[in-house]
Amino acid sequence: MRVHIPEGIRERSEELFLPGVPRIMANRQNTKAGISPEFYATLDVGDTRQRIAFAGVREMVTKYCGGANKALDYGCGAGRSTRFLKEMGLEEVVGVDINQEMLQKAVEKRIPGTSYLQIKSGQLPFKDCMFDLVFSGLVILEISKAREIRKILKELKRVTTDQGTVIILTCTKEGYLTDSDHFEVMLTPEQQANIKDGDPVPIRVRDTGQVFTDYYWSNEFLTSTLQEVGLTTVEVKLPTAPDQDASPRPNYAIYVSKKYAKSIW
Ligand SMILES: C[S@@+](CC[C@H](N)C(=O)[O-])C[C@H]1O[C@@H](n2cnc3c(N)ncnc32)[C@H](O)[C@@H]1O
Repeated sequence: MRVHIPEGIRERSEELFLPGVPRIMANRQNTKAGISPEFYATLDVGDTRQRIAFAGVREMVTKYCGGANKALDYGCGAGRSTRFLKEMGLEEVVGVDINQEMLQKAVEKRIPGTSYLQIKSGQLPFKDCMFDLVFSGLVILEISKAREIRKILKELKRVTTDQGTVIILTCTKEGYLTDSDHFEVMLTPEQQANIKDGDPVPIRVRDTGQVFTDYYWSNEFLTSTLQEVGLTTVEVKLPTAPDQDASPRPNYAIYVSKKYAKSIW
């Protein structure tokens, strides 16, 4: 299967690109061992509690990224978020991930205007200032080390155009207090009450019984780390859907940042 690679994106060797990438082994350290690419590939932005999150992302992209053409989807998984961005009208969306099996699923469902590339964590084979929009959805919560998150955010900033936007979607503390359609949070009430940055959050997939681990990162940690790497947070959107959701607590947070902007803080 051939994968479309947009002009100007290719910078390093050909073999970085799927499907010719098996020589680069996925870094499995941070991947969700209990959540299979097959299962992930069945999820769409509309059919889990995450629909609320992606509705919020759509709103933020519309509000802050008018005129954006090229987007990067960092931690694209099985390509759900990449297709979502493309279907919002961006010309070209590149999905990158460390997990080869996830990428294989993404390639199987590839739509025109998207391409996929396997990377090592926090290392992007792109020139500076290449993407108008850099999105990373539900990825930070898979990373156990603060320094790794800092490294990734720095790299995301580097590849963003000067007028571009970085949008990070992640789970809030409230998100780890409630179970959702597919997932059950396995923290005791005491652990939930005392949760702090970097704490592991074991989660069970209802259908399969498999357990994987998220890592909790607070709003304070994320906003200060964005600031540290030179990204200014212009909005933190906490989407809820009171009409669809019986408990309208913000389970997700969307951080919208710019390279050079006046901070809201
Ligand atoms: C929960 S999935 C989300 C996938 C996609 N963004 C979506 O919303 O459908 C998280 C993805 O992040 C990837 N990931 C985890 N750690 C990563 C890292 N350090 N760098 C890049 N991708 C990473 C995983 O391999 C996985 O595919």
